[in-house]
Amino acid sequence: MRIRKAVFPAAGLGTRFLPATKAQPKEMLPLVDKPAIQYVIEEAVASGVETVIIVTGRGKNAIEDHFDVAFELERTLEERGKTEALDEIRRIANLVRVCYVRQKEPLGLGHAVLSARDLVGDEPFAVLLGDDIIESKVPCLKQLMSIYDEHRCSIIAVERIDRTRTKDYGVVGVAPLQSSGKPPAGQGGRESVHEVRDLVEKPEPSEAPSDLAIIGRYILTSGIFEQLESTAPDKWGEIQLTNGLRSLLRKEKIMAYEFEGKRYDTGNKLGFLKATVEFALRREDLGEEFRRYLRCLAL
Ligand code: G1P
Repeated sequence: MRIRKAVFPAAGLGTRFLPATKAQPKEMLPLVDKPAIQYVIEEAVASGVETVIIVTGRGKNAIEDHFDVAFELERTLEERGKTEALDEIRRIANLVRVCYVRQKEPLGLGHAVLSARDLVGDEPFAVLLGDDIIESKVPCLKQLMSIYDEHRCSIIAVERIDRTRTKDYGVVGVAPLQSSGKPPAGQGGRESVHEVRDLVEKPEPSEAPSDLAIIGRYILTSGIFEQLESTAPDKWGEIQLTNGLRSLLRKEKIMAYEFEGKRYDTGNKLGFLKATVEFALRREDLGEEFRRYLRCLAL
């Protein structure tokens, strides 16, 4: 079955970006001039997703407005002959079919995914987390879809991290590689697809089952919903997706995939700044002048 639907959890409070996020959703913070969530939704659309399900909460109306028709703005741009801006504004409203569901309480990522159950139904679906923006030749979600086509089970995007940073991520334990005789497919000549044996949410480095961290791209079978229903909240009262996946692993195979591309963790300030600078440098209209400006800073 094809992956037609993608869930975007966007109900978080964005406390890491206060005060900017006091009165606006963190998903709407712009990297250069495009809201962070638009980059991720464009990745889903470029991967072939037909329906996007955004899980929102209080104070997130700006997200709905962003992906909606802005009649007055369009009329004004039309009157002023600003056709380029007008085309872009219209393109965003026509990008993809978007549905919204409210997560009434911030009870964790697993709970956010569970909120989308009725809209997803009984089919495999994607989950994309807006903090991770991935630049790659083939969109990251599309890479996961190819792995899904081959294995027909839940697929989690992972990246090797420095062992000292396991407390920031879900970490997977994987089966030792069996030499298949086939040439290795992954980056740097390593095998990039692994069978998951364990998943631990934000472990201490000493307790981490590997250095493979979960990145915000998943393809999940609908079996995850039943597991999330019975997943106990953690010590902060949150239902973790990682813990739901750990239960799912007792029933179904799960694969981890080391994606190809560069990830920007825009969920923290430094990552956000790095992405902003690099994206600005790549822009045709800004890049050259911005590069000149950076060069003349006394760094
Ligand atoms: C979430 C997940 C975690 C994953 C991370 C990726 O954590 O719970 O397993 O590694 O996203 O960005 P969060 O960053 O929301 O704390």
